[in-house]
Amino acid sequence: MQRNNGYRSAGTTGQKRRVRKRRRTIRPRAIVLGVVILIIIAVAISWKSLFRSDTVEEQQSSVQSEQSVSSTDENMQQSASSTDESVPQSEASTGESEQQSESSVTGELSESEPDIQVVDGITYVNGILIANKSYSLPADYNPGVLPEAQSAFDEMAAGAAKDGINLYIASGFRSYEYQQGLYQRYVERDGAEMADTYSARPGHSEHQTGQAFDLNEISDAFAGTPEAEWLEKHAHEYGFIIRYPADKEDITGYNYEPWHVRYLGKETAEKVYESGLCLEEYLGIDSVYAD
Ligand code: DAL
Ligand code: ZN
Repeated sequence: MQRNNGYRSAGTTGQKRRVRKRRRTIRPRAIVLGVVILIIIAVAISWKSLFRSDTVEEQQSSVQSEQSVSSTDENMQQSASSTDESVPQSEASTGESEQQSESSVTGELSESEPDIQVVDGITYVNGILIANKSYSLPADYNPGVLPEAQSAFDEMAAGAAKDGINLYIASGFRSYEYQQGLYQRYVERDGAEMADTYSARPGHSEHQTGQAFDLNEISDAFAGTPEAEWLEKHAHEYGFIIRYPADKEDITGYNYEPWHVRYLGKETAEKVYESGLCLEEYLGIDSVYAD
């Protein structure tokens, strides 16, 4: 028993020593392990926060680059309109950045006010000479056909001829006095209210600008002919627009005239055509007689 006890006690002491020894070796290891784990956790946390700030920065920079793309689009629109239509840069870029970026996203036209200049009684809207029910020309304004408009028509007629289409001018420049006699005859025939739907009062006709032509047949029968369809499709390529389109009567103030083209130059005619708007809508003006 004693021996056993002694043995047991001797064994217990050995075990205790081993345990103590093991504890002595385990403790530093545990400490080292703990420190390593703490370091790993610290590194992981800092890595995570670094990664998160990178992502935020990426998101911010992508938002900024989208904004710069849209503002580039806006700048292009502004410079295009200021070059082509004389919209003052300051007016086009006055505040309303939200509205502008929205319009650049949707591709809609700028809603800025038109720049209306009156020089010697002649009205220019965004640089375009305008004669309609709202804006008249002086009685002595007598420019004849604008040479560029004539050249553009000749080019268009040649282009049409290649497609087997014959275009000719039925009515070009009309003086104030000529328009006065014409309108008066229509009033006598149909009454003023009816005449106002298809004939301009003197001083209000686009024919007096020298930049408008009636082509081929001045009659409703012209609508739907191969010539009218060719014009609908190609006039803008030569710098002309169909000035009084169908379904825009309330805005232009005139019935559909598939034969009446207005010269604007290729760049502007292309833009108006692509917009799908009539000239009044495109410029943001109306066409209503004052009286
Ligand atoms: N027929 C167009 C509107 C004019 O008389 O000028
Ligand atoms: Zn006409």
